[in-house]
Amino acid sequence: MDKEDGKKLPSKEIGIGLLGLGVIGSEVASTLINSSEELEKKVGLPIKLSGVLVKNIEKVRSLNIPKNLLTTDRSVIINNPKIHILVEVIGGTTIAASAVREALQAGIHVITANKELVAKFGSELHDLASANGVAFHYEAAVGGGIPLVATLNRALVASRVTTLRAIINGTTNYILSEMAKNKLSFSKAIKQAQDLGYAEPDPTSDIDGSDAAFKLAILTGIAFDSPINYNDIYKEGIVDLAPNDFVYADELGYSIKLLAIAKRQDDDSIDARVHPVLLNKDTPLAKVDGVLNAIEVSGDLIGQVLLYGEGAGAQPTTNSILSDLVEIARDLSLDNVAIHSHQNEQKHNLYPSNQITVRYYIRMLVSDEPGVMSKITQVLAQKTISIASVIQRETSASNKLAEVVIMTHKAIENELHESITELKKVIGVKDVATVIRLEE
Ligand SMILES: NC(=O)c1ccc[n+]([C@@H]2O[C@H](COP(=O)([O-])OP(=O)(O)OC[C@H]3O[C@@H](n4cnc5c(N)ncnc54)[C@H](OP(=O)(O)O)[C@@H]3O)[C@@H](O)[C@H]2O)c1
Repeated sequence: MDKEDGKKLPSKEIGIGLLGLGVIGSEVASTLINSSEELEKKVGLPIKLSGVLVKNIEKVRSLNIPKNLLTTDRSVIINNPKIHILVEVIGGTTIAASAVREALQAGIHVITANKELVAKFGSELHDLASANGVAFHYEAAVGGGIPLVATLNRALVASRVTTLRAIINGTTNYILSEMAKNKLSFSKAIKQAQDLGYAEPDPTSDIDGSDAAFKLAILTGIAFDSPINYNDIYKEGIVDLAPNDFVYADELGYSIKLLAIAKRQDDDSIDARVHPVLLNKDTPLAKVDGVLNAIEVSGDLIGQVLLYGEGAGAQPTTNSILSDLVEIARDLSLDNVAIHSHQNEQKHNLYPSNQITVRYYIRMLVSDEPGVMSKITQVLAQKTISIASVIQRETSASNKLAEVVIMTHKAIENELHESITELKKVIGVKDVATVIRLEE
């Protein structure tokens, strides 16, 4: 038997349990089966897929997998003494959270690609893993094939990270790129993303910023050594952006991106938020288009590091899962798995998002008549918000409406919001359509 102090130790081979055999699970299973010789060379012991949990055992699958490996009962996998590492790729948190807890308690090392699980239960699962002397790894949960967790945990560990800025949702980046380049409306861009398989049939968690907030919570926890609750992250999605915003942004020298931002403040609190931003067109992040992801990390010793690549998809995600798997398996073959203790983590406060001070882009629809602009200027001046530049365009001579785009100088977020409320009351202001923060 392979058990010592609650931990399962392999003698002749390392057994893998797989929870889920969908897009990611199928690629993981096929790599484990088809690349077993290469994996054995890298690890020093054979790696064997020993059990797979699915929802529907009768489902027709393109992957040719022995039927006797499949089960719908997770206890068959968790109680199998020959399984040393569990890979969770079911998704969601109901089944996944219970199964991962049970596995950790049973002394099984766990790897997951599930950002929602890590963002919501990461601290608890880390503690459970430490208490049971096993590893809990999740490279694939953020950034698909881009090695973000390992880079932050290991390669950049000596630097004090000051800022992290990331395009970490490929679906929204694709939609924004199409709206900018091909002048598509939001609804057409999302339909195109769904037709190409870049967006789910229900894309809510992408377009409302939740998916990026899950990932930012995970990255911030590692980069700033501080667990943060994803619910506390300020988030705004991309649904209010219109094709005209991309035209004006381009004219002003900016791209529009959904950015996940975490910045260490002078008082050591963390300013963490997800929302669309205007980015100077010449900056590297502004040039990241389509489904690609990029993460820019700034720190005292490193200056600035940019990681860039495929943020989703079966193969890049499998690469990240297998990198975690090989790391644990190598340690297991030496009976020396590194257990990361999170006892020394400091809890940082989150900086209040209504106190951030940035420049703003405001697009309004106004009556094209004398005096309206001066009323707008007065409202902004009451909160000492000064205007840096203005674009005014007639929409059509017949309706006597104009579109006005104002770029402000720096202003405090809550004062800007109060001004917007007042602007909506000004006679002649028909709509305050879009407000976008400038990320400098
Ligand atoms: N897709 C990507 O590009 C990507 C990238 C990075 C991370 N991820 C993450 O990877 C995870 C899996 O994503 P996916 O795209 O592979 O999902 P998926 O294609 O929907 O596959 C889910 C798998 O879980 C099984 N399953 C679902 N509910 C179950 C239940 N109650 N009991 C047992 N098995 C159940 C399904 O079984 P059946 O086959 O029998 O239906 C299926 O095999 C998610 O957390 C996702 O966020 C995905």
